[in-house]
Amino acid sequence: MNHEQLARIAHKIMANGRGILAADESTGTIKKRFDQINVESTEQTRNGYREMLFSAPGFGDYISGVILYDEQFRGLNRHGEGLKDMIKKADAVAGIKVDQGAKNMPLKPGEKITEGLDGLRERFAEYAQLGAGFAKWRAVINIADHIPSRGAILANAEALARYAALAQEAGIVPIVEPEVIMDGAHNIDKCEEVTSATLRAVYEALAEANVWLEGTLLKPNMVISGTDAPTRAGREEVAERTLRCLKRHVPGAVPGIVFLSGGQTEIEATEHLHMMNAGHNNPWPLSFSYGRALQQAALKSWAGLDENIPAAQAAFAHRAKMNWLAARGEWSKDQEA
Ligand code: 13P
Repeated sequence: MNHEQLARIAHKIMANGRGILAADESTGTIKKRFDQINVESTEQTRNGYREMLFSAPGFGDYISGVILYDEQFRGLNRHGEGLKDMIKKADAVAGIKVDQGAKNMPLKPGEKITEGLDGLRERFAEYAQLGAGFAKWRAVINIADHIPSRGAILANAEALARYAALAQEAGIVPIVEPEVIMDGAHNIDKCEEVTSATLRAVYEALAEANVWLEGTLLKPNMVISGTDAPTRAGREEVAERTLRCLKRHVPGAVPGIVFLSGGQTEIEATEHLHMMNAGHNNPWPLSFSYGRALQQAALKSWAGLDENIPAAQAAFAHRAKMNWLAARGEWSKDQEA
């Protein structure tokens, strides 16, 4: 493991408020997004949509890393240039999603376990050779009556740790993503309790696997009320509880935390990030690794038409800039106009 290389990549991603664009929707997920705008999902549209995002004006000012799905990691833009090379030209790091999805956990109704460990050492060796600087593995923890179980939390933490160790062995920074899902009618207390238990298990497993924390990044959910909760906690409470939970469970050796948006609206995700940064002196830089909260507006204005590309790029660049400001604690509502 090359410590210096891992630390350099992690710090580059976190520096100056830049953040990550999660553009690693699998072929199945991007089809669902395209269905919403009546665009056929073909390799050409899947690559073309990503090309549009990566060539948006100001891209590299706000985005320090992009997570790609295998097809796009190998894919080309309309000029025959690698999509991942466009990212590098913008002085950002190309990353790769390596998990193979959260599957139903046997004998545990409602719970998930992420697959993809078999053969991962060999896949990492190839991705490293192709120029991946970081990777992502997402674990899914659902909240409902009587779940999550301790068994599901431990199994997912163990898988994250084995993935992270394999990534570092290959010289790739692992983004460790344990996502406590927002769906459900649970209150914010429940989310905090489950997020705490999950992070505790994850850092225990990472330690047991000899993962070098200085060469990792954490991608957590925020501590937030369930989508269908009868009353939902306000923005200040989300920011406060999230910081409290992270401070209790995430070692200061971790060089950065990049949140997922998880179904929050675009503005919510930005405002929460801003509130956790403005006026706070946190143990780690806090930034974003948003998928939906960076892409929703752009996807809508694009609608699959070439003539809409400038408007869609402007919409994406705006969101990227707003989140960059939020990561610096410099965002305000009037900058949204
Ligand atoms: P969202 O921000 O849409 O939750 O996506 C981020 C991500 O990469 C989830 O794994």
